[in-house]
Amino acid sequence: MSRLIIVSNRVQAPGSAPAGSQGGLAVALAAALREYSGFWFGWSGERTDQFTGHINFQRDSGVTTATIDLEDQDIEEYYNGYANRTLWPLFHDRIDLAEYERGFAGGYQRVNERFAETVRPLIEPDDAIWVQDYHLFPLGSELRKRGCKNRIGLFLHIPWPARRLLSSLPKAEDLVRTLFAYDVIGFHTDEWRESFSEYVVQQLGAVLEADGNISLAGRTIKAITCPIGIDTPEFVAMSRSITARLSHRQMRDSCNGRDMIVGVDRLDYSKGLEERFLGYERFLVEHPEERKEVFLLQIAPPSRESVETYQQIRTDLEGLSGRINGAYADVDWVPIRYVNQGYPRDVLAGIYRAARIGLVTPLRDGMNLVAKEYVAAQDPEDPGVLILSRFAGAAVQLKGAVLINPYSAEEMSDAILLALRMDKAERISRWRRLMDSVEAEDVVWWRQRFVDALMAT
Ligand code: G6P
Repeated sequence: MSRLIIVSNRVQAPGSAPAGSQGGLAVALAAALREYSGFWFGWSGERTDQFTGHINFQRDSGVTTATIDLEDQDIEEYYNGYANRTLWPLFHDRIDLAEYERGFAGGYQRVNERFAETVRPLIEPDDAIWVQDYHLFPLGSELRKRGCKNRIGLFLHIPWPARRLLSSLPKAEDLVRTLFAYDVIGFHTDEWRESFSEYVVQQLGAVLEADGNISLAGRTIKAITCPIGIDTPEFVAMSRSITARLSHRQMRDSCNGRDMIVGVDRLDYSKGLEERFLGYERFLVEHPEERKEVFLLQIAPPSRESVETYQQIRTDLEGLSGRINGAYADVDWVPIRYVNQGYPRDVLAGIYRAARIGLVTPLRDGMNLVAKEYVAAQDPEDPGVLILSRFAGAAVQLKGAVLINPYSAEEMSDAILLALRMDKAERISRWRRLMDSVEAEDVVWWRQRFVDALMAT
């Protein structure tokens, strides 16, 4: 096939990321790119005094990356501003946290134009272009303005909000209209895809065709459901690596016969960490006999630290974990081990395998790959139990999990007890169902499904 060009805000050449900092998205895209020639274009994460459009090409572990540096004002208005203070909270149903400033919208548009201007000369007529995520909504339309006739797809890694929430965004209609420059738009779940269709039909007057295509002003796009997966064989292999075995053993030793509950999340308000701590506290209160039998390890590497809401969640969680530990700890037991740093994925694989419960309770999440990694890391003979929020995209596929409403401390407490008491036969049968899905719908399946849909246009 033709080359595949991936464009995303953040580009991380495999191997270049500091230990543990590479997110699920970066890992998934690197896996996709190894299969095709082409390259991965985006922001280097670095600053420059003056934007020149200079591209830094690099090749690392079979993946070519092409990156640009951005000016301080770009980073402030586009990344910290419109992407992470406007769109991220809004698309995660947090309109109370969303900030609407004209400067943010202007910077977002400017950076999308800069991306288009810089990548355009690298595009050959047969290339397929695959744009990632909410940072780059207008990129397709900016490329079209520059004469690009290639196939262009967009995949949204976060939820698509309900129509009435999206209407709170100034100029939402103009922004969404630009999406008709794409040929294919992918969502993790039917729910997000249907929300999108509802918005464009009701708000913009688009027409939903019988074949599922959507037309507006002479352009037709295909909206598809295409849930992202992990590189399952790679993660299973990693969970058996020497490093993973070592971290598994260390973790088991440090458990001292107690059951470990594990959570691993970027420090983000959408992850429901406060609710998780409160649900766990509820469990400690309702089941005092379990207190010293269990502990919660919460790994939460800081994220987007220039944004105030992220500083706030950090402060809040420090206070909450301190309060809970202060209230229930004993000389030989602490209920919550709260760790603010990331770990390499092979170390995490060992930790997941040592955990009796994987507690994944976002309030809203496009997919959630931690849930899938937890499943893939388990010992098939003696697997742990996944407790998963109904509001994660992953809940659609991971039916073998104990599904809960993360807003309900009672449900969380009940689920923890159920998981701790679950017999081995049920754990194995639930895990098998989970693993079947994680194996069948992995990152290769995801990429193939999206690229096939793009190529069919
Ligand atoms: C989510 C987004 C990704 C983003 C990642 C890490 O998964 O969908 O686009 O890369 O979070 O966030 P960051 O702001 O550090 O790139």
